[in-house]
Amino acid sequence: MRILFSLIWILPCFADVEFLLAVWRHGDRAPESLPYPNDPYNITFWPRGWNQLTNVGIEQSVKLGTFLRRRYKTSVLQKFDRKQVLIRSSDADRAIETAQSVVTSIFPPIGEQAWNTGKYRYWQPIPVRTNPKSDDMMLRPSKIHCPAYNRLIDEEKREIEEDVDWKYRRELDAISHYINHTVRYSNIKDVYNILLEHYNGLPFPDWILREVNGRPLLDTIVEIRRISRLQKFDSREKSKYMAGFLINNWIESLTDVANRKSSKKALLYSSHDGTLSSLLYGLNISNHQLVPYTACVMLELHTGNKIKIFLRNSTSEDPNDVHQLLIPGCSEECPLHVFRSLVADVRVKSQHELEKICSSSISKPTIFSSIILLLIFYLL
Ligand SMILES: *[C@@H]1O[C@H](CO)[C@@H](O)[C@H](O)[C@H]1NC(C)=O
Ligand SMILES: *[C@@H]1O[C@H](CO)[C@@H](O)[C@H](O)[C@H]1NC(C)=O
Ligand SMILES: *[C@@H]1O[C@H](CO)[C@@H](O)[C@H](O)[C@H]1NC(C)=O
Ligand SMILES: *[C@@H]1O[C@H](CO)[C@@H](O)[C@H](O)[C@H]1NC(C)=O
Repeated sequence: MRILFSLIWILPCFADVEFLLAVWRHGDRAPESLPYPNDPYNITFWPRGWNQLTNVGIEQSVKLGTFLRRRYKTSVLQKFDRKQVLIRSSDADRAIETAQSVVTSIFPPIGEQAWNTGKYRYWQPIPVRTNPKSDDMMLRPSKIHCPAYNRLIDEEKREIEEDVDWKYRRELDAISHYINHTVRYSNIKDVYNILLEHYNGLPFPDWILREVNGRPLLDTIVEIRRISRLQKFDSREKSKYMAGFLINNWIESLTDVANRKSSKKALLYSSHDGTLSSLLYGLNISNHQLVPYTACVMLELHTGNKIKIFLRNSTSEDPNDVHQLLIPGCSEECPLHVFRSLVADVRVKSQHELEKICSSSISKPTIFSSIILLLIFYLL
């Protein structure tokens, strides 16, 4: 009954989507390199190579495409039309391959697009655009040279690192002992990779579910990874550096569509967890969780220039399996002009502006450095 009710309630809602902005994280990937010296799962276990999308990741990406097709096939993603739909990816192979897998499943050739009746009948070529790795401010912001951002992260990191290493010292010592490799906050990713191995069918080491301080070590690893990863993105100030360009691109596209200056129906972006985390923090709608593979943030422009934002954070193909994220300070159907004013201060409107804020040397002095300065004055 509840399902029926929510179906009735939701169905008309995505039929009136006029424009869609979507950004997803790539699918499941291989670790960057051998996670730790005694790890038994070397490159032989990763047939597509370190860093690359895995077979699991391709499957997840195809499911994301099915989800998007089901959700938007009556509105903005009816068939592939290059004047209406733009697909853009970061330059990382895993993001490009994810985009290719997603669009293959969103847009099987239909009607006049059918070009083959044999084994390729469900596939047609669809362009996926990219920008060079070094300066993709929108979809690979973590690779931009940005001293002001780095300083902000580093200053804060020292304190958090000390706290976490102390709070979880017994767990970290146990893990380090089991794998014969020192594990701390700063290199927690080494053991977090065990989870990636697990996603790919490689058995867990036997120690990982042992409990220390009443909690399986696996849970502690995930928690420390969550803290260390989100520390890079978890404020509006950080978000301005990492998502300001994307947020600006979204606002400009929405404005053009609302003013009938653009006939686009959907902009689909293939990117990384950091991009999605920063975007969610920039819009004050993060749930403080790690962004899973092929998670997708969808901003829908509805009739009457109202916007709604949804998060798909599962690998479900069910078009209703999403969470609506409510923008603080706005109603459930947020008028575009209100949304625009709420995000005004996190927008970065040009490469020049980004370079300016990245090179600015004034970072807020911490209490600690103020005391040091006062001391120096006093001593002189
Ligand atoms: C990877 O490990 C397997 C044994 O598990 C071994 O046979 C193989 O030589 C190793 N490959 C490399 C490239 O080290
Ligand atoms: C543990 O690591 C040290 C180097 O850090 C190495 O000398 C030693 O052989 C390793 N022991 C095992 C059992 O792998
Ligand atoms: C998905 O998002 C919802 C809403 O923010 C949250 O309650 C849930 O814990 C998230 N699930 C995962 C796997 O991140
Ligand atoms: C987010 O929160 C900040 C400060 O709490 C506020 O100034 C801003 O308008 C909010 N923005 C959105 C999009 O909710």
